Amino acid sequence: MSLRLGDKAPNFKAQTTEGEIDFYEYLGDSWGILFSHPADYTPVCTTELGRTALLQEEFAKRNVKVLAVSVVPLDKHKGWINDINETQNCHVDFPIIADEDRKVAELYDMIHPNASATATVRSLFVIGPDKTVKLMITYPASTGRNFNEVLRVVDSLQLTSNHSVSTPADWNHGEDVIVAPSIPTEEAEKRFPKGVRVVKPYLRYTPHPTK
Ligand code: BEZ
Repeated sequence: MSLRLGDKAPNFKAQTTEGEIDFYEYLGDSWGILFSHPADYTPVCTTELGRTALLQEEFAKRNVKVLAVSVVPLDKHKGWINDINETQNCHVDFPIIADEDRKVAELYDMIHPNASATATVRSLFVIGPDKTVKLMITYPASTGRNFNEVLRVVDSLQLTSNHSVSTPADWNHGEDVIVAPSIPTEEAEKRFPKGVRVVKPYLRYTPHPTK
């Protein structure tokens, strides 16, 4: 099944390096990141999981729980985690799914047959507390993802879900944001007491609402 933004993220039960989990129970009221990697004991994947482990505090600050997927047996994951911890100087403490039967990979359309018939691509889903899909990115096996970008989009998603704003190109947390076009300027000036800068009637900035 192919998922789209706004769809309900399918629930599943899976064996992981932290025991069996029910995805929804694991997420609770948190935001979630579900991300696949093509294989264990491979260089790019080793750096990606290490980077994710090193950013655990940043994910926790944002109330985000991460969960990795690979279509590889549990015992292989466990040995590989030792290598990740050793080489990336980290402590992997988030679960990695052993998706041997590809149940999760298929549910989330993580195998793209024209890229590889058997391995998952680098899919990443951000799931909101309402269990709907807020963001999807897909990278090929040869290109590691930018986890600073993942944190940046989480910041944008969380801000824009709570305020009538959107975030411009290359935005980073703390910078000015764009007032939603649906709000008339007079009302925007009341709603955003830090001020509204009108560049065009449809392009209006306001300082970050919560900084
Ligand atoms: C890697 O993680 O380095 C990798 C995995 C599968 C294919 C290509 C690269």
